[in-house]
Amino acid sequence: MATDDLGRHIADDVVGDGGLDGLRRLSEVVAALEERRTAVVAELRRGRSATWEEIGRACGMTRQGATRRWSGRLRARSFGAAADAYQQGRPGYPQALIGSAVPREARRVLDLGAGTGKLTRLLVEAGLDVVAVEPDAAMREQLAAAVPRAAVRAGSAEHIPLADGSVDAVVVAQAWHWFDPAVAVPEIARVLAPGGTLALVWNVRDESEPWAAELGALMHRSARQEIDTRPLLPAPFGAPERLEIRWEHVTTREGIVAMVASRSYVIALPEDERARLLADVDRLLATHPDLAGREEIALPYVTRCTRVRRD
Ligand SMILES: C[S@@+](CC[C@H](N)C(=O)[O-])C[C@H]1O[C@@H](n2cnc3c(N)ncnc32)[C@H](O)[C@@H]1O
Repeated sequence: MATDDLGRHIADDVVGDGGLDGLRRLSEVVAALEERRTAVVAELRRGRSATWEEIGRACGMTRQGATRRWSGRLRARSFGAAADAYQQGRPGYPQALIGSAVPREARRVLDLGAGTGKLTRLLVEAGLDVVAVEPDAAMREQLAAAVPRAAVRAGSAEHIPLADGSVDAVVVAQAWHWFDPAVAVPEIARVLAPGGTLALVWNVRDESEPWAAELGALMHRSARQEIDTRPLLPAPFGAPERLEIRWEHVTTREGIVAMVASRSYVIALPEDERARLLADVDRLLATHPDLAGREEIALPYVTRCTRVRRD
Protein backbone atom coordinates (compact mmCIF):
# COMPACT_ATOMS: atom_id res chain seq x y z
CA MET A 1 0.00 0.00 0.00
CA ALA A 2 1.34 3.51 -0.84
CA THR A 3 2.37 5.50 2.27
CA ASP A 4 -0.31 8.18 1.82
CA ASP A 5 -2.99 5.48 1.41
CA LEU A 6 -1.67 3.82 4.59
CA GLY A 7 -1.92 7.18 6.40
CA ARG A 8 -5.52 7.67 5.26
CA HIS A 9 -6.39 4.09 6.25
CA ILE A 10 -4.93 4.54 9.77
CA ALA A 11 -6.64 7.93 10.18
CA ASP A 12 -10.04 6.45 9.23
CA ASP A 13 -9.47 3.61 11.69
CA VAL A 14 -8.55 6.00 14.51
CA VAL A 15 -11.43 8.44 13.89
CA GLY A 16 -14.00 5.59 13.85
CA ASP A 17 -17.46 7.15 14.16
CA GLY A 18 -15.95 10.64 14.36
CA GLY A 19 -17.35 13.22 16.77
CA LEU A 20 -15.36 14.67 19.67
CA ASP A 21 -14.12 11.23 20.72
CA GLY A 22 -12.77 10.57 17.24
CA LEU A 23 -11.15 13.99 17.16
CA ARG A 24 -9.54 13.39 20.58
CA ARG A 25 -8.17 9.99 19.50
CA LEU A 26 -6.87 11.44 16.23
CA SER A 27 -5.14 14.32 18.09
CA GLU A 28 -3.45 11.83 20.42
CA VAL A 29 -2.17 9.78 17.50
CA VAL A 30 -0.95 12.92 15.67
CA ALA A 31 0.92 13.98 18.86
CA ALA A 32 2.48 10.51 19.19
CA LEU A 33 3.54 10.53 15.52
CA GLU A 34 5.02 14.02 15.89
CA GLU A 35 6.92 12.86 18.97
CA ARG A 36 8.30 9.92 16.97
CA ARG A 37 9.24 12.21 14.08
CA THR A 38 11.15 14.48 16.50
CA ALA A 39 12.99 11.43 17.87
CA VAL A 40 14.01 10.39 14.34
CA VAL A 41 15.20 13.92 13.55
CA ALA A 42 17.15 13.97 16.85
CA GLU A 43 18.83 10.67 15.94
CA LEU A 44 19.80 11.96 12.49
CA ARG A 45 21.21 15.19 13.92
CA ARG A 46 23.06 13.46 16.77
CA GLY A 47 25.07 11.35 14.33
CA ARG A 48 25.27 14.33 11.91
CA SER A 49 24.04 11.77 9.34
CA ALA A 50 21.64 14.18 7.65
CA THR A 51 21.71 17.92 6.99
CA TRP A 52 18.77 20.22 7.79
CA GLU A 53 18.33 20.51 4.01
CA GLU A 54 17.86 16.72 3.67
CA ILE A 55 15.63 16.50 6.75
CA GLY A 56 13.49 19.34 5.40
CA ARG A 57 13.13 17.58 2.03
CA ALA A 58 12.10 14.29 3.72
CA CYS A 59 9.39 16.17 5.63
CA GLY A 60 8.17 18.28 2.72
CA MET A 61 9.65 21.47 4.20
CA THR A 62 12.38 23.94 3.40
CA ARG A 63 15.69 23.84 5.28
CA GLN A 64 14.64 26.94 7.25
CA GLY A 65 11.23 25.42 8.04
CA ALA A 66 12.83 22.24 9.40
CA THR A 67 15.41 24.16 11.46
CA ARG A 68 12.72 26.45 12.88
CA ARG A 69 10.54 23.49 13.76
CA TRP A 70 13.13 21.28 15.43
CA SER A 71 16.34 22.97 16.49
CA GLY A 72 14.74 24.52 19.64
CA ARG A 73 13.00 21.25 20.48
CA LEU A 74 16.21 19.27 20.10
CA ARG A 75 17.98 21.70 22.43
CA ALA A 76 15.15 21.21 24.93
CA ARG A 77 15.70 17.46 24.73
CA SER A 78 19.50 17.58 24.81
CA PHE A 79 19.95 17.33 28.59
CA GLY A 80 20.10 13.52 28.69
CA ALA A 81 23.45 13.63 26.86
CA ALA A 82 24.89 15.31 29.97
CA ALA A 83 22.67 13.73 32.66
CA ASP A 84 25.65 12.81 34.87
CA ALA A 85 27.13 16.32 34.65
CA TYR A 86 23.66 17.71 35.37
CA GLN A 87 23.27 15.65 38.50
CA GLN A 88 26.81 16.42 39.65
CA GLY A 89 26.98 20.11 38.80
CA ARG A 90 23.59 21.79 38.87
CA PRO A 91 22.57 23.40 42.13
CA GLY A 92 19.52 22.26 44.04
CA TYR A 93 17.03 24.74 45.52
CA PRO A 94 16.76 26.30 48.98
CA GLN A 95 14.34 24.36 51.22
CA ALA A 96 12.52 27.64 51.99
CA LEU A 97 11.33 27.67 48.37
CA ILE A 98 8.85 24.83 48.98
CA GLY A 99 6.66 26.90 51.34
CA SER A 100 6.27 29.54 48.61
CA ALA A 101 6.06 27.31 45.56
CA VAL A 102 3.44 24.96 47.03
CA PRO A 103 0.47 26.13 49.14
CA ARG A 104 0.24 24.68 52.65
CA GLU A 105 -2.99 22.77 51.92
CA ALA A 106 -1.62 21.03 48.78
CA ARG A 107 -0.99 17.27 48.99
CA ARG A 108 -0.61 15.95 45.43
CA VAL A 109 2.13 17.76 43.52
CA LEU A 110 3.39 17.41 39.96
CA ASP A 111 7.05 18.27 39.28
CA LEU A 112 6.97 18.92 35.53
CA GLY A 113 10.23 18.71 33.53
CA ALA A 114 11.70 17.21 36.70
CA GLY A 115 15.12 16.39 35.20
CA THR A 116 17.30 14.44 37.62
CA GLY A 117 15.03 15.33 40.54
CA LYS A 118 16.79 18.32 42.12
CA LEU A 119 13.48 19.88 43.19
CA THR A 120 11.58 16.57 43.39
CA ARG A 121 13.73 15.53 46.33
CA LEU A 122 12.80 18.64 48.34
CA LEU A 123 9.10 18.14 47.58
CA VAL A 124 9.24 14.53 48.79
CA GLU A 125 11.18 15.54 51.90
CA ALA A 126 8.44 18.09 52.65
CA GLY A 127 6.01 15.13 52.95
CA LEU A 128 4.18 15.75 49.67
CA ASP A 129 2.78 13.09 47.38
CA VAL A 130 4.90 13.73 44.29
CA VAL A 131 4.65 12.63 40.69
CA ALA A 132 7.61 13.66 38.52
CA VAL A 133 7.12 13.91 34.75
CA GLU A 134 10.17 14.09 32.49
CA PRO A 135 10.52 13.41 28.73
CA ASP A 136 14.18 12.36 28.67
CA ALA A 137 14.95 8.71 29.53
CA ALA A 138 18.52 9.36 30.80
CA MET A 139 17.29 12.14 33.11
CA ARG A 140 14.43 9.89 34.34
CA GLU A 141 16.91 7.15 35.18
CA GLN A 142 18.91 9.52 37.42
CA LEU A 143 15.67 10.83 38.93
CA ALA A 144 14.31 7.40 39.82
CA ALA A 145 17.63 6.48 41.49
CA ALA A 146 17.96 9.81 43.35
CA VAL A 147 14.34 10.09 44.56
CA PRO A 148 12.85 6.59 44.82
CA ARG A 149 9.82 7.89 46.75
CA ALA A 150 8.56 9.94 43.80
CA ALA A 151 6.35 8.38 41.12
CA VAL A 152 8.34 8.92 37.92
CA ARG A 153 6.48 9.10 34.60
CA ALA A 154 7.50 9.68 30.98
CA GLY A 155 5.70 12.65 29.46
CA SER A 156 5.97 16.31 28.63
CA ALA A 157 4.32 19.62 29.47
CA GLU A 158 2.38 19.36 26.24
CA HIS A 159 1.22 15.83 27.01
CA ILE A 160 0.96 15.15 30.75
CA PRO A 161 0.15 11.51 31.59
CA LEU A 162 -2.26 12.40 34.44
CA ALA A 163 -6.04 12.55 34.81
CA ASP A 164 -8.03 15.81 34.80
CA GLY A 165 -7.96 17.67 38.15
CA SER A 166 -5.62 15.09 39.70
CA VAL A 167 -3.04 17.41 41.39
CA ASP A 168 -3.23 20.36 43.79
CA ALA A 169 -0.05 22.03 42.60
CA VAL A 170 2.34 21.96 39.65
CA VAL A 171 5.95 23.11 39.96
CA VAL A 172 8.23 23.74 37.00
CA ALA A 173 11.87 24.34 37.89
CA GLN A 174 14.26 25.66 35.28
CA ALA A 175 12.13 24.20 32.48
CA TRP A 176 9.25 26.56 31.58
CA HIS A 177 11.31 28.22 28.83
CA TRP A 178 11.48 24.86 27.02
CA PHE A 179 7.70 24.37 26.90
CA ASP A 180 5.30 25.35 24.13
CA PRO A 181 3.06 27.63 26.24
CA ALA A 182 0.14 27.53 23.78
CA VAL A 183 -0.21 23.78 24.47
CA ALA A 184 1.31 23.56 27.96
CA VAL A 185 -0.93 26.19 29.63
CA PRO A 186 -4.25 24.40 28.90
CA GLU A 187 -2.62 21.02 29.59
CA ILE A 188 -1.38 22.14 33.04
CA ALA A 189 -4.78 23.73 33.76
CA ARG A 190 -6.40 20.39 32.86
CA VAL A 191 -4.46 18.33 35.42
CA LEU A 192 -4.83 20.94 38.20
CA ALA A 193 -7.80 20.77 40.54
CA PRO A 194 -9.82 24.04 40.59
CA GLY A 195 -7.98 26.56 42.78
CA GLY A 196 -4.71 24.65 42.30
CA THR A 197 -1.44 26.50 41.75
CA LEU A 198 1.38 26.60 39.25
CA ALA A 199 4.86 27.72 40.33
CA LEU A 200 7.64 28.55 37.87
CA VAL A 201 11.12 28.54 39.36
CA TRP A 202 14.56 29.55 38.13
CA ASN A 203 17.99 29.61 39.72
CA VAL A 204 19.81 32.70 38.45
CA ARG A 205 23.56 33.05 39.08
CA ASP A 206 24.33 36.19 41.04
CA GLU A 207 27.29 37.72 39.23
CA SER A 208 28.04 40.55 41.66
CA GLU A 209 31.36 38.97 42.70
CA PRO A 210 34.09 39.61 40.07
CA TRP A 211 35.03 35.92 39.65
CA ALA A 212 31.35 34.99 39.16
CA ALA A 213 31.02 37.75 36.52
CA GLU A 214 34.12 36.40 34.74
CA LEU A 215 32.64 32.90 34.85
CA GLY A 216 29.40 34.23 33.31
CA ALA A 217 31.30 36.06 30.55
CA LEU A 218 33.23 32.87 29.73
CA MET A 219 30.07 30.75 29.66
CA HIS A 220 28.38 33.13 27.26
CA ARG A 221 31.24 33.82 24.91
CA SER A 222 29.88 31.47 22.21
CA ALA A 223 26.17 31.51 22.99
CA ARG A 224 23.77 33.29 25.26
CA GLN A 225 20.39 32.10 26.45
CA GLU A 226 17.90 34.86 27.26
CA ILE A 227 15.22 33.60 29.63
CA ASP A 228 12.28 35.58 31.01
CA THR A 229 12.39 34.56 34.67
CA ARG A 230 9.39 36.76 35.61
CA PRO A 231 6.85 35.51 33.08
CA LEU A 232 3.20 36.50 32.85
CA LEU A 233 0.66 33.70 32.45
CA PRO A 234 -2.59 33.82 30.54
CA ALA A 235 -6.06 32.68 31.70
CA PRO A 236 -7.15 30.49 33.40
CA PHE A 237 -4.31 31.59 35.69
CA GLY A 238 -4.65 34.66 37.90
CA ALA A 239 -2.25 37.41 38.97
CA PRO A 240 1.30 36.31 39.82
CA GLU A 241 2.85 36.27 43.29
CA ARG A 242 6.61 36.60 43.07
CA LEU A 243 9.40 35.70 45.43
CA GLU A 244 13.20 35.76 45.42
CA ILE A 245 15.56 33.86 47.72
CA ARG A 246 19.30 34.61 47.85
CA TRP A 247 21.51 31.67 48.75
CA GLU A 248 24.82 30.00 47.99
CA HIS A 249 25.49 26.66 46.36
CA VAL A 250 28.58 25.27 48.06
CA THR A 251 30.41 23.16 45.50
CA THR A 252 33.89 22.43 44.12
CA ARG A 253 35.86 23.37 41.02
CA GLU A 254 34.78 20.05 39.40
CA GLY A 255 31.18 20.80 40.37
CA ILE A 256 31.24 24.17 38.59
CA VAL A 257 32.86 22.67 35.49
CA ALA A 258 30.08 20.02 35.47
CA MET A 259 27.44 22.76 35.89
CA VAL A 260 28.82 24.50 32.78
CA ALA A 261 28.99 21.18 30.87
CA SER A 262 25.28 20.55 31.62
CA ARG A 263 24.04 23.80 30.00
CA SER A 264 22.10 23.07 26.80
CA TYR A 265 24.05 25.63 24.77
CA VAL A 266 27.33 24.02 25.90
CA ILE A 267 26.05 20.50 25.07
CA ALA A 268 25.28 21.83 21.56
CA LEU A 269 28.81 23.18 20.91
CA PRO A 270 31.18 21.35 18.55
CA GLU A 271 33.34 18.98 20.63
CA ASP A 272 36.62 20.94 20.36
CA GLU A 273 34.94 24.24 21.29
CA ARG A 274 33.18 22.58 24.22
CA ALA A 275 36.44 21.06 25.53
CA ARG A 276 38.21 24.44 25.19
CA LEU A 277 35.46 26.21 27.12
CA LEU A 278 35.49 23.66 29.96
CA ALA A 279 39.31 23.90 30.19
CA ASP A 280 39.09 27.73 30.33
CA VAL A 281 36.48 27.55 33.10
CA ASP A 282 38.68 25.15 35.07
CA ARG A 283 41.68 27.47 34.64
CA LEU A 284 39.70 30.52 35.80
CA LEU A 285 38.58 28.71 38.96
CA ALA A 286 42.09 27.42 39.65
CA THR A 287 43.86 30.75 39.16
CA HIS A 288 41.47 33.55 40.15
CA PRO A 289 42.99 35.33 43.19
CA ASP A 290 39.62 35.37 45.04
CA LEU A 291 39.41 31.56 44.83
CA ALA A 292 43.06 30.57 45.20
CA GLY A 293 43.60 27.51 47.40
CA ARG A 294 39.90 26.92 48.09
CA GLU A 295 38.63 23.35 48.24
CA GLU A 296 35.02 24.51 48.36
CA ILE A 297 33.56 27.34 46.32
CA ALA A 298 30.30 29.11 47.24
CA LEU A 299 28.49 30.04 44.04
CA PRO A 300 25.88 32.73 44.79
CA TYR A 301 22.36 32.29 43.37
CA VAL A 302 19.00 34.01 43.43
CA THR A 303 16.09 31.60 43.18
CA ARG A 304 13.10 33.29 41.52
CA CYS A 305 9.60 31.90 41.86
CA THR A 306 6.39 33.03 40.15
CA ARG A 307 3.22 31.43 41.55
CA VAL A 308 -0.23 31.68 39.95
CA ARG A 309 -3.57 30.20 40.91
CA ARG A 310 -5.91 28.45 38.50
CA ASP A 311 -9.28 30.23 38.57
C1 LIG B 1 17.22 22.58 32.93
S1 LIG B 1 16.42 21.07 33.16
C2 LIG B 1 15.57 21.27 34.72
C3 LIG B 1 15.38 19.97 35.45
C4 LIG B 1 14.84 20.07 36.88
N1 LIG B 1 13.51 20.62 36.93
C5 LIG B 1 15.77 20.86 37.76
O1 LIG B 1 15.32 21.86 38.34
O2 LIG B 1 16.93 20.48 37.89
C6 LIG B 1 15.11 21.14 32.01
C7 LIG B 1 14.33 19.83 31.92
O3 LIG B 1 13.15 20.06 31.16
C8 LIG B 1 12.94 18.92 30.37
N2 LIG B 1 12.08 19.32 29.23
C9 LIG B 1 12.43 19.86 28.05
N3 LIG B 1 11.35 20.06 27.27
C10 LIG B 1 10.28 19.67 28.01
C11 LIG B 1 8.87 19.64 27.77
N4 LIG B 1 8.36 20.09 26.64
N5 LIG B 1 8.08 19.14 28.75
C12 LIG B 1 8.59 18.72 29.92
N6 LIG B 1 9.92 18.73 30.20
C13 LIG B 1 10.74 19.20 29.26
C14 LIG B 1 14.33 18.48 29.95
O4 LIG B 1 14.37 17.14 29.52
C15 LIG B 1 15.10 18.73 31.24
O5 LIG B 1 15.14 17.60 32.06
